[in-house]
Amino acid sequence: MKANAGLVFTNNNRLHKFGYGRKRVMGDAQWWQHAVGYQIYPQSFLDTNNDGIGDLAGIQQQIDYLKTLRVDFVWVSSFYPSGDVDNGYDVMKYRGVAPQFGTLADFDRLVAALHAADIKIVIDLALNHTSSDHPWFKAALADPTSTYHDYYIWQPTTLDVAPNNWESVFGGSAWTYHAASQAAYLHTFARKQPDLNWENPAVRREMSDIIQWWADRGVDGFRLDGVTHLKKQADFADVAAPRTDYYRDFTGVTTYLADLKPVLQRNHLFTIGEAGGIDMPTAQRWLDPDTGFFDLLLEFDHVHYWENAEPKLPIAALRQNLTRWQLALADKGWNALFIENHDLPRAVSYYGNPVDYRRRSAKALGLWYLLMKGTPFIYQGQELGLPNARFDSIDDYRDLDSRLYYRSQRAKGVSESKILEQLAAKSRDNARTPFPWNDEPNGGFSEHQPWIQPTQVVERINVERESHDPYSVFTFYRQLIQLKKTVPTLQKGRYELIDTKDDQLYVYRRTYNGDNWLIVVNMSNEAATTQEFDLNPSEMIVTNMRVDAASDETQIQPWEARLYHLRKLE
Ligand code: GLC
Ligand code: CA
Repeated sequence: MKANAGLVFTNNNRLHKFGYGRKRVMGDAQWWQHAVGYQIYPQSFLDTNNDGIGDLAGIQQQIDYLKTLRVDFVWVSSFYPSGDVDNGYDVMKYRGVAPQFGTLADFDRLVAALHAADIKIVIDLALNHTSSDHPWFKAALADPTSTYHDYYIWQPTTLDVAPNNWESVFGGSAWTYHAASQAAYLHTFARKQPDLNWENPAVRREMSDIIQWWADRGVDGFRLDGVTHLKKQADFADVAAPRTDYYRDFTGVTTYLADLKPVLQRNHLFTIGEAGGIDMPTAQRWLDPDTGFFDLLLEFDHVHYWENAEPKLPIAALRQNLTRWQLALADKGWNALFIENHDLPRAVSYYGNPVDYRRRSAKALGLWYLLMKGTPFIYQGQELGLPNARFDSIDDYRDLDSRLYYRSQRAKGVSESKILEQLAAKSRDNARTPFPWNDEPNGGFSEHQPWIQPTQVVERINVERESHDPYSVFTFYRQLIQLKKTVPTLQKGRYELIDTKDDQLYVYRRTYNGDNWLIVVNMSNEAATTQEFDLNPSEMIVTNMRVDAASDETQIQPWEARLYHLRKLE
């Protein structure tokens, strides 16, 4: 490989040199195909009334920040009144706002303000389960003959005998016995999150009505939570993999989704499905613009690679997997691009190198995933390269999943330090800490003790510092977003993997009408060299290194990332 010694841009480059205006460039595509999304975890974004919990008014106050990033839509994580068992994903009331987040009037103001700023809003909707304190479930418990009883999933049993071996995603049996019903109810997640019975048409009608109600309030779309969980194995028999097998009937889910389609369609709602475990043919069907149900699906193949293959990232497998998804949705359907959300640790910690190359690897990861074909999502704090939270005590953890895990491992005799080490790498709380705005106490998030400890970082990382630093992760992300939004090839160009056949590089090309861009990322801690492509006829547009313009650099440094524009061959 030979790098072109002509024009070289540092990461402080000026993109307008390329003559791409600020105007949107796609013609007849859907708006979300040229959009960049930003996920907000409301309890940790900004606290305006100093009770230690972020709120809707905090989002409204930071619309300028969203404008600075140039995002087109926000996805706001669950803010409904809830039992606070699963941070809002145990809904007690679907038509409302939890008091700690504000009021419906605050919500309406937020929608109006976002729309005035030309930013769309997507809200979260947990469809698979409610809180055990939801009036439907309370009615079901109070009277087993009530119509609400059949809103949930029951199996007859006696005390202490689970109807089968199904397990909750959070650990333990997925069944909880209820004496008056002489039956157990199913909960794929926590005990206090009983699963809704989607076989019951009344449940589907309720959900359609709820969607309509929010559409009437002006929301632009939904992130439908856990859709792959909706259909349960009908015979309730034991399964081979007790944590997953009982809810993976995607054909069955399709029947339910068909009932939601009219309300989604008639309101022109942008729909994002959280689809853990989905297979490719199903994803293709669900994303079919005519016969499908979703605009985007969030699938997790690429993040599970990390979980299964510590400590070294299996680049070859990752390359292969992401490429399969890129190709599967190349002509029909569209990819959602993400490396973080509220259920994952921080990307710089799980994929990057937060110790030796925090900034560099955070930027490399950004360039790597954001410029693939698809709609990128950025999760709050990712644009600052925030690493994992690093809590030293189980008492600092708030996430139920983490706390249950701690308890079950302790019961098995695993040492405290070992479990804390695991949680430090894997806990969902790693990415749920207060967003750091400035150098003030609690990062300017709140004057009150936050509901969860801020991330412990050696260097100071916050918006104020990062936005004044031309070499910051934040500045780099802004540039990536601008590129993505203004270069047609980076939006609709074909994706093509360049297989470097090594265990370090991820290289791909984006091509549109003879215009070619090349993305080269070293996703390892060692320098890399490759012969697999020729950089001679190319200009480097973006890099996360301060490259010497005259150098003839053939090595790609650890976590170095480069974007090249290939000149058209005469
Ligand atoms: C979704 C949410 C997650 C929650 C789960 C159960 O996966 O993203 O936070 O724990 O649903 O409600
Ligand atoms: Ca607050």
